[in-house]
Amino acid sequence: MTPSATVRIAVTVNGQLVHMDVPAATTLVDLLRSDLGLTGTKVGCGVGECGACTVLLDGLPVLSCLVLAAEVDGRRVSTIEDQRNARVRRLQEAFVAAAGLQCGFCTPGMILAASRLPPDADDAEIRAGLVGNICRCTGYAKIVTAVRRAGRTRTGRGTRR
Ligand code: FES
Ligand code: FES
Repeated sequence: MTPSATVRIAVTVNGQLVHMDVPAATTLVDLLRSDLGLTGTKVGCGVGECGACTVLLDGLPVLSCLVLAAEVDGRRVSTIEDQRNARVRRLQEAFVAAAGLQCGFCTPGMILAASRLPPDADDAEIRAGLVGNICRCTGYAKIVTAVRRAGRTRTGRGTRR
């Protein structure tokens, strides 16, 4: 298949089934941002180094700059705009409450990556789980606090730690 060839895909994005014809070389992040207008997913490096483009594919975090749109045919994609995801909503609230963001560019990817961590993850586990997500602003401490508090909220252990 040449890069200019077109591929027909049917993908469920944030609960909505979408049928599209896309150039074979289209990446998932371009499909989301340019074709579907879901600009919450960010592009930092474009080469799999920063984590800003993280989305959930069939429930698992992937770097959408490294995934072709053709590869998501028949699959489920969830982005930061997916308000059906209660864990993501809790994380968003916790990031705001804990000041876990400054410019916010890394935040969508950070939250989607964090949404797959165990809710009772300790700080070391949170840092290890987010090792592929780079933040240039915060120094990470408040991000870790936000993720920890969001997990405690879910498990009913309060939000003070
Ligand atoms: S934009 Fe995908 S990892 Fe940086
Ligand atoms: S808040 Fe600016 S890059 Fe993380």
